[in-house]
Amino acid sequence: MARRGREHTRYDVIGADYGRTRRPDLRIARQIRAALGDARTVVNVGAGTGAYEPHDLEVTAVEPEAAMIAARPPAAAPCVLAAAESMPFADASFDAGMAVLTLHHWTDVTAGLRELRWVARRRVVLLTWDPEFDDALWLTTDYLPAIRLRDRAIFPRLPHVVAGLQPQRGFMIDPVLIVHDCSDGFLGAWWRRPEAYLDPAVQTGISSFCELGPKVTGPPLAGLAADLESGEWERRFGGLLELDELDLGYRLVTVELTAP
Ligand SMILES: C[S@@+](CC[C@H](N)C(=O)[O-])C[C@H]1O[C@@H](n2cnc3c(N)ncnc32)[C@H](O)[C@@H]1O
Repeated sequence: MARRGREHTRYDVIGADYGRTRRPDLRIARQIRAALGDARTVVNVGAGTGAYEPHDLEVTAVEPEAAMIAARPPAAAPCVLAAAESMPFADASFDAGMAVLTLHHWTDVTAGLRELRWVARRRVVLLTWDPEFDDALWLTTDYLPAIRLRDRAIFPRLPHVVAGLQPQRGFMIDPVLIVHDCSDGFLGAWWRRPEAYLDPAVQTGISSFCELGPKVTGPPLAGLAADLESGEWERRFGGLLELDELDLGYRLVTVELTAP
């Protein structure tokens, strides 16, 4: 049986609901595809419902939650029920490995990264969030410090991620700027749409809300609702409404392994 991630996010029950607010964003998809470069075969670890799997490549997905696999579209890449820490593939089975917004759920990040670099030959591409940017999003600094604390604790530090993949030919860390109308509703995606954080459908697509539950998130969100109503939010953060994109600390880590 697949191991459940350390934070016990209910991806086993979120399943079909995930896709309602978590639609891959085309701009992020382009960045991930460019980073995969000349790879032809790719393993997508923590694949969920298949977001960001490039259609022009031969993708094998790996996902530990049956409910997420069941919610994959019929045309999505084949998916193996497994966790990052114990993938059923021989060494160097794929040109590249990818993992998108999943590392922070793994039971053992060090072991998962080691597996990923074993099964990938040339390159690993990861989208994650840099916990050094824990002051970048008004929602967590001013309303929900519990999310800020939790995310600082569960997202691995980038030096740890890079070291775990043992680059042989260098690595790159590129900012992934979040556009104001980002279609993939992860935590930072709604930075310019504050009302969205009050929407239960949006909350369902964000693991931090699911983990903490309404007892913790309810009162701060009631405060946000009141600030939006009174104009206080706009007084404090209205400058953001002028921006089209923002650096919230999302990073694309590309690690080069052996020579092609
Ligand atoms: C936020 S979702 C991201 C899914 C997909 N990569 C995307 O970008 O939409 C996190 C995914 O990581 C999966 N996950 C949790 N623990 C894992 C583990 N130990 N190994 C691999 N995937 C895991 C979850 O089941 C979930 O599908």
